[in-house]
Amino acid sequence: MEPPVQSIISVDGYRLLHLGAVFCLSVVLLKGIQLYQRRKTLLAALQSFPGPPSHWLFGQANEFRQDGQDLDRMLSWGLQFPYANPVWFGPFIVYLNITHPEYARTLLSRTDPKDNVIYDHFIPWIGKGLLVLAGQKWFQHRRLLTPGFHYDVLKPYVRLMSDCTKVMLDSLQEQAAAESIDICPYVGLMTLDAIMKCAFSYDSNCQSDRENPYTNAVLERASLADGRELFSPCHSDLIFYLSPQGRLFQRASRISREHTDNVIKQRKESLKCEKEPEKIQEKRHLDFLDVLLCAHDENGQGLSDEELRAEVDTFIFEGHDTTASGISWIFYCMAKYPEHQQKCRREIREVLGERDTVEWNDLSLLPYTTMCIKESLRLYPPVPLLARQMNKPITFSDGRSVPEGCLVSVCIDSIHRNPDVWTNPEVFDPLRFSPEESSQRHSHAYLPFSAGPRNCIGQDFAMNEMKIAVALTLNTFELSLDPTQPPVKVLRLVLRSKNGIHLRLKKSK
Ligand code: HEM
Repeated sequence: MEPPVQSIISVDGYRLLHLGAVFCLSVVLLKGIQLYQRRKTLLAALQSFPGPPSHWLFGQANEFRQDGQDLDRMLSWGLQFPYANPVWFGPFIVYLNITHPEYARTLLSRTDPKDNVIYDHFIPWIGKGLLVLAGQKWFQHRRLLTPGFHYDVLKPYVRLMSDCTKVMLDSLQEQAAAESIDICPYVGLMTLDAIMKCAFSYDSNCQSDRENPYTNAVLERASLADGRELFSPCHSDLIFYLSPQGRLFQRASRISREHTDNVIKQRKESLKCEKEPEKIQEKRHLDFLDVLLCAHDENGQGLSDEELRAEVDTFIFEGHDTTASGISWIFYCMAKYPEHQQKCRREIREVLGERDTVEWNDLSLLPYTTMCIKESLRLYPPVPLLARQMNKPITFSDGRSVPEGCLVSVCIDSIHRNPDVWTNPEVFDPLRFSPEESSQRHSHAYLPFSAGPRNCIGQDFAMNEMKIAVALTLNTFELSLDPTQPPVKVLRLVLRSKNGIHLRLKKSK
């Protein structure tokens, strides 16, 4: 007898369901085996590097509590397990974290690509610019961009930076009567103002006009992306973009991308007749976009529109957040060590006299102030950590090695506070940077701007801006601490204080 049609369908349906379940289970099993193998490979790769106890699921991720002690914990691991130790973020992501200059030298002399966990998050934000590029493309861009940091190009920026600092000081003046002021937002707006003027001559007025959609988008985008790398579920683009934070991030990215594209389009139009930097310089100062638009390699090849946008956005990001962090912590150090503050002020006044602006020639006449800036960058490095993914095995000076594909980070903060390298590392002592003392040190003991072929291309720009901000600020104000609100250092892409940096300001005599 023929089975009823109904029963044939349900038998086939059951089979289909069964097959589906077997397929899903096999995929899960295969993925499980793959992950198990991956973990075994990672453990084997790092077996010669002992490290702190690690939870099988979370690794050390729970140790990053944003409680002001994260960097201290990394330092103490570095002291317990010298040179380098593994740090696990979950069961499948591990960094060999370097805490000694000798190991840093080996890593930073190579050109391994940036690691794909932290740096890939930059791409939707700043595009594939110099910071994230690798290989031949990076080399080509680095060569094209280097002329943008020639001192001839940097010179006119001094006036722009000086003007931006004066606007910041006027805003601070209005608040100076307050018990104390969190200086971070003021400094952040000032460095954003300055980088926009230097990068593409854009007068954003962002220090007074808080409604500018472009500058708001840049600030919003940076704060939304910050900390994403420390929260492993957000490593997935899908999860991040589904979150409210991710959606705001996409909106801010769109606004800022459109703005940069417009600026590039208009500039291309206005530079139709002037393709030589010298010709532009006859009429006005060169900004960074001019340099990019005039840049060509030996085959006459320039940058595409997308590459131009990525480089401009990279400079806006790298050029404002890092210097803002640097300047804010320098102000904190000056407030904490009034004797050094006073010495800097005396030096600054001897150089400036009655002037309230800084000029190019002044910058080399401030040796003590420069040493204080360097000492502050040692104790509070704006970029506390960097990372690479090995494109071939790496062997360190003591013979230990890790294979291709491994992630290796350099904790700049730990190297800067390593007692094997620095005497009394926690003491603020600017004289460490006197020429005599500097010449005695390991070449990779001091790395605020990293070192080697991928060092910071903007370090002269940044040092100039920091000197100008410190000179004009100490010429105007006496800075002191607010003991009721000490800053809490937090490890992010850029070093920040969780609760701001609250200082008391008094007109200086
Ligand atoms: C105090 C301020 C600054 C500090 C501490 C700093 C620090 C650093 C560090 C540590 C790196 C290496 C990052 C890595 O290897 O992943 C770097 C790279 C870079 N910095 Fe800076 N930076 C500062 C300011 C600037 C400024 C003002 C600009 C541009 C105007 C800039 C542009 C760049 C670029 C484009 C790179 C990537 C270079 C490459 O990979 O070839 N930085 N910076």
